[in-house]
Amino acid sequence: MSKDKTVFQCQGCGYSSPKWIGKCPDCGAWNSFAEEKLSPKSLKSGNWQSTSSEAQPLSAVAGGREKRIPIGIAELDRVLGGGLVAGAVILIGGDPGIGKSTLILQAVGRIAGKIGSVLYVSGEESPEQIKLRAERLGINSDAIILLPETLVENITVAAQGMKSAAMVIDSIQTIYTEELTSAPGSVGQIRESAARLMMFAKKNHVPIFLIGHVTKDGAIAGPRVLEHMVDTVLYFEGDRGHPYRILRTIKNRFGSTNEIGVFEMGDDGLREINNPSELFLSERPLNVSGSTVIASMEGTRPLLVEIQALVSPTTFGMPRRTSMGIDFNRVNLLIAVLEKKAGIHLGAMDVFINIVGGFKVIEPAADLGIISAIMSSFREVPIDSKTFLFGEAGLSGEVRAVAQAEHRLREAAKLGFTHAVIPKGNADRLKNDFGLQISGIKNVEELIDRLRA
Ligand code: TYD
Ligand code: MG
Repeated sequence: MSKDKTVFQCQGCGYSSPKWIGKCPDCGAWNSFAEEKLSPKSLKSGNWQSTSSEAQPLSAVAGGREKRIPIGIAELDRVLGGGLVAGAVILIGGDPGIGKSTLILQAVGRIAGKIGSVLYVSGEESPEQIKLRAERLGINSDAIILLPETLVENITVAAQGMKSAAMVIDSIQTIYTEELTSAPGSVGQIRESAARLMMFAKKNHVPIFLIGHVTKDGAIAGPRVLEHMVDTVLYFEGDRGHPYRILRTIKNRFGSTNEIGVFEMGDDGLREINNPSELFLSERPLNVSGSTVIASMEGTRPLLVEIQALVSPTTFGMPRRTSMGIDFNRVNLLIAVLEKKAGIHLGAMDVFINIVGGFKVIEPAADLGIISAIMSSFREVPIDSKTFLFGEAGLSGEVRAVAQAEHRLREAAKLGFTHAVIPKGNADRLKNDFGLQISGIKNVEELIDRLRA
């Protein structure tokens, strides 16, 4: 007789325990454990390989490069590393309502005509709802097959008979397997269903898009528990208040990470933005204090973005520090460097930093931009609108060289900038100045002097 095994799993991070516990020791969430029954024959997560594989020397493995099939949406192909790879499982995560279904339906529209039929499995919307969206996007095709189904066993049976070129699961949170008794959307169900779909993809060489909702409070098990299993993880982000959407690679077994694709949500779907720098700078106020432009890199792509700072006297005892689109701790660190190394006293000042357009900057090359925006607002002196910066600031106030300086310079020159303030380490090694006037600086004090001039 088979014996059912019960485990308690944290619905936030997937940590499992033989007993119920109030606080997850792994992610710290309270009251997040739910009971899940595992039957003995259920798959181990991620174990999609057939058991009878034989060991073989590396040199004997046939292969070489994967064949890629470009989808035809350049911004999406770039984040995928050049196109779809047979058997790849791609997870697309994002907040509900951000446009995941829209993006995928547009991609499906391209694939369906060109490469073959696509099976679109929807556990959230009825075929009529999908049809409405497709009409809005101007998509209609015999090669898009809609399947409203949530049981993974039925999905794989249906897909087996169809020989489709690609599959979409919208969303993985609605899919469940009979093997487990827990509710759809729990960590166990998500992992188990995804493992089955992975196995199907690898066996049949069909690429599968898994759509997953991420919620801020983690109430529904996030697609994060799948990140280690799938081949590619993309996050679709953006601010509801802005039409811009950014598709970011978090992990990619078939390409580089940190690539981004930029889209704009309009009435008839997502439009590709081929030159995001132009867009991010289009509403920039000229000759206003507290605004600077930095040349940042997103993967292989240079991007010019505006940083704004507002420095004003504190009205209550504690000065406030707020940052949007950039790491808060980084801003605090740079304020401390300014205080200590340049003698700028911000102790009685509120400091607000914002990256314009709902964009996020992660790399430290933004440091000089933040410092100069703060200084510009503090002194109420605008920074020349044809000047841009990049460079990392260290704790002793030194300015450090950053990677890919020439890419950044070329992009800025293309957009009509004339003056670059960059680390001396970069300036000394440049092979080409792209017609820009270049100031190489060694430390934060030099930067402040330069801004005064
Ligand atoms: P959707 O793709 O359903 O989001 P998700 O699958 O991530 O939950 O799209 C959500 C929003 O996009 C919805 O509020 C309506 C809007 N939208 C447009 O603005 N234009 C369009 O052409 C479409 C299809 C949707
Ligand atoms: Mg959706």
